[in-house]
Amino acid sequence: MSILHTTQLNKEYQMGEVTVHALRGVDFVVNKGEFIAIMGASGSGKSTLLHLLGGLDSPSDGEVTLAGKHLAQLNDNDLTIIRRREIGFIFQFFNLLPTLSAAENIALPLLIDGKRIEDYSAKVDELLTLVGLADRKNHRPHQLSGGQQQRVAIARALVTDPTIILADEPTGNLDSASGGEILKILRRACNEKEQTIVMVTHDNQAAQYADRVIRLKDGRVDYNP
Ligand SMILES: Nc1ncnc2c1ncn2[C@@H]1O[C@H](COP(=O)(O)OP(=O)(O)OP(=O)(O)O)[C@@H](O)[C@H]1O
Ligand SMILES: [Mg+2]
Repeated sequence: MSILHTTQLNKEYQMGEVTVHALRGVDFVVNKGEFIAIMGASGSGKSTLLHLLGGLDSPSDGEVTLAGKHLAQLNDNDLTIIRRREIGFIFQFFNLLPTLSAAENIALPLLIDGKRIEDYSAKVDELLTLVGLADRKNHRPHQLSGGQQQRVAIARALVTDPTIILADEPTGNLDSASGGEILKILRRACNEKEQTIVMVTHDNQAAQYADRVIRLKDGRVDYNP
């Protein structure tokens, strides 16, 4: 079942006189429960594509359809709600709030969505266990290693049970052992929770955890099995 698809996605950036064609007619489909890796050289358009998939930026042309909704047709308010409830973002730099504990960082998307976080303490504990941090619940980000911080970020992305997780180089800032842990957790979320994941990576090793690899070259899909 398709959960996300793009049709003829184009993105141009106008830099004074120069037009940068970051994406040129990208078509692809993501099915429910799939773990997809997007690969390609630096500048090939990977981050641009991920931003469009997540509604963080809008295409110059073409369409992104997520869970049956055309993102371009949504107003700002609806788009904000979709981003909050349907999409979990994981970035290369973990983007945790420094004054909050691991558990509070994980619960943050619920708080922002107006939920009573007291109702979700079991859920937060379950996610802390999933990412192997049950004994780091009250640690602040600066008291955690980089790999542990990224695991908090993964739990935070999962807490809303999003339709899709979008991850941009989630292991890019980690050593290979910590990176491997992150990839195993993502793989487990896919296997056990049928979590759909789209992950941008440079790393062939990382891509091996995915079900399918899509390659971008100069803003086009170069290889899509
Ligand atoms: N905000 C922007 N304004 C202008 N040009 C941009 C902008 N963002 C990206 N670009 C250009 O679009 C192209 C694609 O960039 P993008 O960041 O998507 O590449 P990438 O594949 O993620 O590269 P990397 O592997 O280095 O992260 C590049 O040529 C880049 O210079
Ligand atoms: Mg990038």
